[in-house]
Amino acid sequence: MLLKLDRVGKRYPMGGGHVDALKDVSLEIQAGEFLAFAGPSGSGKTTLLNLVGCLDTPSSGSIQLDGQDLGRMSRGQLGQLRAARIGFVFQSFNLIPVLSALENVEVALRLGGLPADLDRCEQALVDVGLKEQLHKRPNQMSGGQQQRVAIARALVKQPALVIADEPTANLDSHNGEAVLDLMRALNEDKGATFLFSTHDSIVLDRVRRTVWLRDGVVQKIEP
Ligand SMILES: Nc1ncnc2c1ncn2[C@@H]1O[C@H](COP(=O)(O)OP(=O)(O)OP(=O)(O)O)[C@@H](O)[C@H]1O
Ligand SMILES: [Mg+2]
Repeated sequence: MLLKLDRVGKRYPMGGGHVDALKDVSLEIQAGEFLAFAGPSGSGKTTLLNLVGCLDTPSSGSIQLDGQDLGRMSRGQLGQLRAARIGFVFQSFNLIPVLSALENVEVALRLGGLPADLDRCEQALVDVGLKEQLHKRPNQMSGGQQQRVAIARALVKQPALVIADEPTANLDSHNGEAVLDLMRALNEDKGATFLFSTHDSIVLDRVRRTVWLRDGVVQKIEP
């Protein structure tokens, strides 16, 4: 099992009170899954991805990644785990504008504590169909191409877990389908686990499992 969530809660302070963004979420995710968190705006999808991505910590309950209890790790250890084992694809791509596609991918490898290996970075970009775009900067590429650089950057470390919050939100339907098909192929070829948050049927039609959230609670899991 890759991830085990046991009665996870997340409470944010709000004004004088608080918001319970997640309430008692228990869930098991196996290595190699291709899974979406779905549900209305405010249901807790991003909060959940941030917790399993070690970007934030739960208010209650526990999360195990590869059998390690994240609650027992220091901030520094969590940061190391995140850099080495988890790839993120953000909605807004978050590429560094002054760097080329190849350099953006190389930065991720360095942050992951891995040796700068240009061949490996180039291969990651070739894998996402960007052989001809290696030396272009983000503003010289289309939205779909930028999203593919972000995917190459997430995958170059060969992470066990790839987390993508609304991966199609800034893409037209053609690019959204292409990007999802690409991630699915990478999931099948390399066995990396993909977790998405989404409202988009392009994603929901392609995942193997969907966890539906509502008001911070798991409503149902399909299939
Ligand atoms: N940093 C924060 N401080 C206070 N409240 C927050 C914070 N982040 C999220 N929330 C609240 O927690 C709840 C869940 O938010 P979350 O962002 O996880 O929802 P979501 O399902 O990703 O929504 P969307 O589909 O709009 O992205 C919401 O009520 C939101 O207002
Ligand atoms: Mg969200």
